[in-house]
Amino acid sequence: MQSLARRCSSQLSSNARLFSTSSVALQATPLQKPVMNKEFKIYRWNPDEPSKKPTLQSYTIDLNQTGPMVLDALIKIKNEIDPTLTFRRSCREGICGSCAMNINGQNTLACLCRIDRNTSKDSKIYPLPHMYIVKDLVPDLTYFYKQYKSIQPYLQNDNPPEKGEFLQSQEDRKKLDGLYECILCACCSTSCPSYWWNQDEYLGPATLMQAYRWIADSRDSYGEARKEKLQNEFSMYRCHTIFNCSRTCPKGLNPGAAIAKIKLELATE
Ligand code: SF4
Ligand code: SF4
Ligand code: FES
Repeated sequence: MQSLARRCSSQLSSNARLFSTSSVALQATPLQKPVMNKEFKIYRWNPDEPSKKPTLQSYTIDLNQTGPMVLDALIKIKNEIDPTLTFRRSCREGICGSCAMNINGQNTLACLCRIDRNTSKDSKIYPLPHMYIVKDLVPDLTYFYKQYKSIQPYLQNDNPPEKGEFLQSQEDRKKLDGLYECILCACCSTSCPSYWWNQDEYLGPATLMQAYRWIADSRDSYGEARKEKLQNEFSMYRCHTIFNCSRTCPKGLNPGAAIAKIKLELATE
């Protein structure tokens, strides 16, 4: 009888041990997400191999092992599969404009673009269209910035206030909304057919919207001179109001409308 009791108690304690270890094990094991492999086809071109034509290189990653945005996928590919893949990025939150590229046919910011979770379709990623390429997904923006510089994107006023501070009414300040938020990502300019074909002379929507940003600023006294500079066949009038630019802007801005306002002001003067 005693030995039966001993056997029972030892069985009980080993069951208790089993129970406690298996419950701890259950708690410790993370839920395994199913594998969700998706193919990314990415434009590759290396300036060190100029005789080689650009190619689309295929990479497959598990979407359950990466963040939700296209930039997360690119970083994962670069970190874990192919360190030679080249792209620009900095802020990863739609502020710096560095990660602009063409994703599934649309110019946008990779850090604001969600990965399409349909794994039966691949995602195609190209650099911004109709630009010279530095490497892979990096476009050469030298000329784009030169154009931006040409509109003198800073406050000009020959009669600055004596006490140092330019005052502005709330109404006048409001006129800058929808203009000052531009991050110069170039998504709009590189989606504009007029910019594709006349880039050397036509300023393009991003630069023209910034020209209007200074024309509209009540603290700037160079509005007339700024408009005068645009009064020629190419700088602005190559815009045919197709509004590709406004459709593509990842910040929800409307450069096409800003250009229309400059045209209207010039027409009514
Ligand atoms: S208007 Fe929009 S698309 Fe164009 S440069 Fe500015 S933020 Fe980018
Ligand atoms: S509205 Fe003007 S700037 Fe915008 S895409 Fe059309 S032609 Fe280009
Ligand atoms: S990384 Fe800065 S806008 Fe995308």
